[in-house]
Amino acid sequence: MQAVIDYLNSNQSRFVDELCDYLRFPSVSAQPQHKQDLHACAEWVAAHCGHIGLLAEVHQTDGHPIVTARTPWRPLPDSTCGRRRPHFLIYGHYDVQPPEPFELWKSPPFEPRIEGHSIFARGACDNKGQNLAHLKAVEAYLKTGTELPCDITFVIEGEEEVGSKSLSTFLKAHREELLCDAIVISDTGMPSPKHPALTYALRGIAAFEINVHGPNRDLHSGIFGGTLDNPAMALAQILARLRDKNGRITIPGFYDDIQPLSSYERKQFARLPFKQSDYKKFLGVPKLFGERGYTPLEQRSARPTLEINGLTSGYQGEGSKTIVPAWARAKITTRLVPNQKPAKVIKAVHKHLKKLCPPTVRLEIESGHGAEPYLVSPTGPQAQAAVRALKLAFEYEPVLMREGGSIPIVNEFKKILGADALMLGLALPDDNAHSPNEKFDLNCFSKGQLMSAYLWPELSRA
Ligand code: BES
Ligand code: MN
Repeated sequence: MQAVIDYLNSNQSRFVDELCDYLRFPSVSAQPQHKQDLHACAEWVAAHCGHIGLLAEVHQTDGHPIVTARTPWRPLPDSTCGRRRPHFLIYGHYDVQPPEPFELWKSPPFEPRIEGHSIFARGACDNKGQNLAHLKAVEAYLKTGTELPCDITFVIEGEEEVGSKSLSTFLKAHREELLCDAIVISDTGMPSPKHPALTYALRGIAAFEINVHGPNRDLHSGIFGGTLDNPAMALAQILARLRDKNGRITIPGFYDDIQPLSSYERKQFARLPFKQSDYKKFLGVPKLFGERGYTPLEQRSARPTLEINGLTSGYQGEGSKTIVPAWARAKITTRLVPNQKPAKVIKAVHKHLKKLCPPTVRLEIESGHGAEPYLVSPTGPQAQAAVRALKLAFEYEPVLMREGGSIPIVNEFKKILGADALMLGLALPDDNAHSPNEKFDLNCFSKGQLMSAYLWPELSRA
């Protein structure tokens, strides 16, 4: 193990250069104009895996490519015949969120910049820096000739930020080779550098687009206004009725299946570092708002939400234009917690929206991607092994936590491969995932590599 640690310590500056190369690909999965960039990025990942001694492949899909890379299988010694070596998957994604709005970036999103101990670029923490940390740990084993106590397969995909559709199909088709003892994922966060974290729950998601259609064209609001409904107003009124003043979603049945938070969990939440006033300042809001009866940490990871993600209608340019717009549109997502089911929530949302829509406009609802919430016990032997690896690397007592974001594929891993996910996030709260000026802390990068290095012996023994 010392050889692995020494290797990691003495190669950090090259690793940072490699992270810069990885970050230069504008691998924005949501935008069709970047299709070739996703291909190029997948090829780069596969070539990189090849250089460090992994057997890598790029798999084409109906969407963006998937990269797999495995350690050369090693047979067990004869005395242990019949037993299989432990096999772990490391999951990550090379696709990134759209970088817009560009003008808010201090430096271009795909020209990585190092300032202090942070590296700034779209994808730095979400998720290129985090998956590269695992690659570097495995590289250290392979390049120093240190025997790994397990087989490892990397699965690095290009559609995480748009719902992981191709990967789900891929897992079914490649189930045999991918069967494993656990999935290791670093695509979540940690509360602070002194609080390494094991995440044992994620929220699910259901996405919608609502279109409200009014007149057959934009109309002069002086000539026609007053005789017909305004679709923007109708949409605003529908949306305003989806949440009450206590932060409760008003859709009938929405809260029905939720597994209540145990008092044990609420105590764990209360132990996490969090200061309401700092948080408010960090977000730049005049006052926090959330579901009454829950703390902000509970609200953002263990309670469901309904958010408007985008709202468009009428004239958006400079100056004024006096019209009654022909249509209004909203993009909406709900975040779901155990044991809410996306399909049931989608049905309930449709039904309620239809009920709220006045007869003066026409409503069209389109459902987008969905993912179930995820919850796994944080006390099992594998989770404990992960906690030990975190502690060895970060030298602080790890915390157990729930996260509010979603990683759609974790439930598919469980359903198709039967394996649980160990989520060991390396992103800090101010890393700006999905925001302008995304960054990754280089300390988290190196500690993350160390955590991964310690993980394999710990996990293989568990
Ligand atoms: N890494 C995030 C998920 C995440 C972030 C989990 C923070 C926990 C804490 C992931 O890349 C992501 O952003 N997922 C999307 C999924 C969606 C597009 C289906 C999300 O949560 O919005
Ligand atoms: Mn993301």
